[in-house]
Amino acid sequence: MQTDLRQDELAEILAPFAGKKGTVIPILQKVQERFGYISRESLAVISRFLGISESELFGVITFYAQFRLKPTGKHMVMVCRGTACHVRGGSRIKTEVEKTLGIRAGDTTPDMEYSLETIACIGACALAPTMVIDKNTYGEMTTKKVGEILGDGRKQG
Ligand code: FES
Repeated sequence: MQTDLRQDELAEILAPFAGKKGTVIPILQKVQERFGYISRESLAVISRFLGISESELFGVITFYAQFRLKPTGKHMVMVCRGTACHVRGGSRIKTEVEKTLGIRAGDTTPDMEYSLETIACIGACALAPTMVIDKNTYGEMTTKKVGEILGDGRKQG
């Protein structure tokens, strides 16, 4: 069963942290690294392991933008909402991506292919407006380029 497998993997992740202090964030990072997000089941196991309530852990997870509570798609699309991108039409890019994928920022397509998020600044302001798909950065974005890039991505699927 996948759940049992996950329990085993979780136990494996947690083992090196036994008896150590200040491990909440590193544990959450490792769990997310392994599963792509932190499920309710993982949360319960981590809570028991650390002796911290689930609601306290939930508070930590929601405080840090890096943690996800929902599974993400195969590809992560991030549209920059930083100032440089914003003044050069970043919100138009975001709207176009939302239209192309049929989801809003923060969501995942029903086929689990794409998740869409916005990001503060990816450090490529000279290329504004920008977006990132997985490890690839796309600069000087236009609404037309959104269709070309995501359309191609969909085809290669
Ligand atoms: S503001 Fe978008 S890359 Fe810096």
